Amino acid sequence: MAGNIRLKICDDAAQVAIEAAAMFDELIRANPDSVIGLATGSTPEATYAEIARRHKEDGLSLAGVSSFNLDEYWGLGGDHDQSYRYFMQDNLFRHVDILPFNTHVLNGKARFPQLECEGFENRILAAGGIDMWLLGIGGNGHIAFNEPGSGVDSRTRLVSLTQETIDANSDGRFFSDASEVPRCALSAGIGTIRESRRLVLLATGAKKADAIAAAVDGPFSEDCPASLLQDHPDCTFIVDRDAASKLSN
Ligand code: GLP
Repeated sequence: MAGNIRLKICDDAAQVAIEAAAMFDELIRANPDSVIGLATGSTPEATYAEIARRHKEDGLSLAGVSSFNLDEYWGLGGDHDQSYRYFMQDNLFRHVDILPFNTHVLNGKARFPQLECEGFENRILAAGGIDMWLLGIGGNGHIAFNEPGSGVDSRTRLVSLTQETIDANSDGRFFSDASEVPRCALSAGIGTIRESRRLVLLATGAKKADAIAAAVDGPFSEDCPASLLQDHPDCTFIVDRDAASKLSN
């Protein structure tokens, strides 16, 4: 059951990035004060490069935009090169004109995690909610760091990572060894994500094919966190042919 999920199947990862960047471009030009949600991981890197190119070459300005990131490793400060704050600076923020104080990434070194998470939720509310949130997906169907079993109404909180996620993030692309990967993270909840007015989930490569099939064709179930987007009123999955290869039709 695909629910309301709109599927865009692209020839390759490069096209996925162009489609995703175009959606954010359109949103931001229509409303320069947009509030956008962002993701990390290798999948959105090309999308950020395309947004940066549009800023440099096509006059796209993020000067009025506010951003909120999905998650952050617990215990890593923003100056750690594997922190998600560092990733965002490196892949997007330093290439565009977004104002630093309008970029919100959870603080992985916050003294009181619960206060940090409540503050994050409050800042989203104060900004008027998220207009469009970009998402990736883990091989086990996780979104942000909401691992299987996360509740549909879960909020921003401190979570434990599964061994599968730790291993996936220590395959050399990010951490070089599983022992270096933090065991916990601060993550926006499924309920937090579902409140975004629009959602755009990206997936590329055959390693994501099972997760995409479960999210789109499988039951609405906590076993596959991304399936909990099936009843969202405006959710688009942009995937390449490899990630779409196990979909039923
Ligand atoms: C991490 C992030 C997720 C991301 C996932 C997939 O677990 N917390 O937000 O979607 O990795 O990442 P990748 O795009 O590198 O496969």
